[in-house]
Amino acid sequence: MTTIGILTAGGDCPGLNAVIRAVAKPLIASGVRVLGIEDGFLGLIQDRVREIGHRESSGILNVGGTILGSSNKSNPRRFCTGLRPDGSPIIEDVSAQAFATIARHQLEALVVIGGDGSMSCATELRESGLALGVDLKLVGVPKTIDNDIWSSEITFGFMTAVATIAEAIDKLRTTAASHHRIMVVEAMGRNAGWLALYGGVAGGADIILLPEVPWTYESVISKILARRAHGSKHSIVVVAEGARPAGGAIVARVDPTMPDPIRLGGVGKVVSDELERLLSAHAIESRHVVLGHMQRGGSPIPQDRILATQFGHAAAELVLRKQWGDLVVMQQGRITATPIASVANKQRLVPADDPTIAAARGVGTCFGDLLC
Ligand code: F6P
Repeated sequence: MTTIGILTAGGDCPGLNAVIRAVAKPLIASGVRVLGIEDGFLGLIQDRVREIGHRESSGILNVGGTILGSSNKSNPRRFCTGLRPDGSPIIEDVSAQAFATIARHQLEALVVIGGDGSMSCATELRESGLALGVDLKLVGVPKTIDNDIWSSEITFGFMTAVATIAEAIDKLRTTAASHHRIMVVEAMGRNAGWLALYGGVAGGADIILLPEVPWTYESVISKILARRAHGSKHSIVVVAEGARPAGGAIVARVDPTMPDPIRLGGVGKVVSDELERLLSAHAIESRHVVLGHMQRGGSPIPQDRILATQFGHAAAELVLRKQWGDLVVMQQGRITATPIASVANKQRLVPADDPTIAAARGVGTCFGDLLC
């Protein structure tokens, strides 16, 4: 009997369980044994594996998070095994432990559900395996609320996160309007502005600040004052966590224990404080809200349940066809596959000529790059 392992790696995302279900059910029906690896690559390193059968793969379609657990700190090739007395991390290659787990459970292949970091982690692990004489077979499923996977037009979880942002803006607008304030809403997305763009457009944000569009405070203030001149005394600003003013710096901290040490976050407060300072002559108050991990939580919306089911089913088919090394992707509205190695460590950013930016400009949204 063939046995395959399945793991969810990196930041969690609505729809992960729907993918696990869609991978496991057809494989089990075809006589394949499915083992779930707990907490992503960490479970592979620590040999934490459990069977995913009919019971485990049922009733989870609409459940947020991942029944397998996840971790974004566990690249076997560069694993933090502790801290030195000076606080610096001890980084070691523990790939051999991961391969011991694979051998112990006789895993023929791994289905990796993850983002670009997880795909590069899987690619690196495969390279380690080749050096050890092991041919690690992989199938990838792209996962991220950030929607920044190279080669895929959309990833599941993104639209659920967009719905969360839009709902938050709806609520923030009534309090902003009541107090004639600026409300700055910080969205996730790392270096890509998809979440801020789509969430902002869906919520009718007045100003959207993206990592991909250089913006200035001068432009943002001209929009706020123009709105006031037209009678709208409040403004909603959505800022992507990776956005920075032209010539300025991103707001981040460094965590050397993480495979991706740059941890973004905090730009919402910086922008809000700066707007309040620059607008002090007009006595305009500003507040900020960091939506944070709310955007990753909760039940996937129907669109994401469907997409996750399609992606998971496509991954199961790749396994059954023994088509190894490929990542399921959406291209021109069709589900297809592309080599995992071709997307590792690449990010799909918002192009300057994106039609959603044009549509938003059409309804008066300011991107901080023009004076109003
Ligand atoms: O990649 C998904 C994501 O939610 C990013 O948008 C965000 O920058 C990051 O993960 C946050 O990661 P953590 O869970 O480590 O706080």
